[in-house]
Amino acid sequence: MRKNIVAGNWKMNKNLQEGVEFAKELDKALTGKSPKCDVVIGTPFIHLATVTSVVDAKRVGVSAQNCADKVSGAYTGEVSAAMVASTGAGYVILGHSERRTYYGETSAKLKEKVKLALENNLKPIFCIGETKDEREGNTHFEVVKSQIVEALFDLSADDFSKIILAYEPVWAIGTGLTATSAQAQEMHAHIRKILADKYGKEVADNTTILYGGSCNKNNAKELFACPDIDGGLIGGASLKVEDFMPIIEAF
Ligand code: 13P
Repeated sequence: MRKNIVAGNWKMNKNLQEGVEFAKELDKALTGKSPKCDVVIGTPFIHLATVTSVVDAKRVGVSAQNCADKVSGAYTGEVSAAMVASTGAGYVILGHSERRTYYGETSAKLKEKVKLALENNLKPIFCIGETKDEREGNTHFEVVKSQIVEALFDLSADDFSKIILAYEPVWAIGTGLTATSAQAQEMHAHIRKILADKYGKEVADNTTILYGGSCNKNNAKELFACPDIDGGLIGGASLKVEDFMPIIEAF
């Protein structure tokens, strides 16, 4: 059966010392507990190697927030999937709407990134989600489907089964406007149906689909209680252990 996951995405927050302090504090808070979900923190690149060395990998997984669409070479400023893997990180967030919007990431580029992540044994946390205009124009189901089809549907069923999806409606990110649990569940069920049509029911049922967008300790319980919501990708509320732990414990 699929895994429940609560993953933090720090975005461009925390210097190295702050990040390491958070990681140690979270690891300690989880010690002796048996959360009903895997816990992952998505840190900036520069934190990865140190953070993986201060947490117990069985308690806290570590994720990058991006990787390059090229293997290696003259790509100044880029960080490859192999480099991310060499830090001990096990995951990489790909296709976040902030990267699609501010850094021009297209489905074609994301397809390369996913391929390289998988070749380096990183689990992609692949983000999809519609804008406010797309939802108001009633194209949200279509938009999310295209994002999945364009970047992921060349994968074999075996490779696809390593993907974690994160539905993050752009209008809910950092706005305090959470999708209602009914809106989120409706989209998650739609996504699972798309996966079942392509890869079969078993792969679809085994795929973890996270919700992201103003998820916090007050709404996590209701969201995670929905049958097709398997956890959260958490931005703002992942920056303090006292905010993040109750989300983990919402399961
Ligand atoms: P917020 O939780 O701050 O809305 O961010 C969600 C997000 O973008 C996680 O990737």
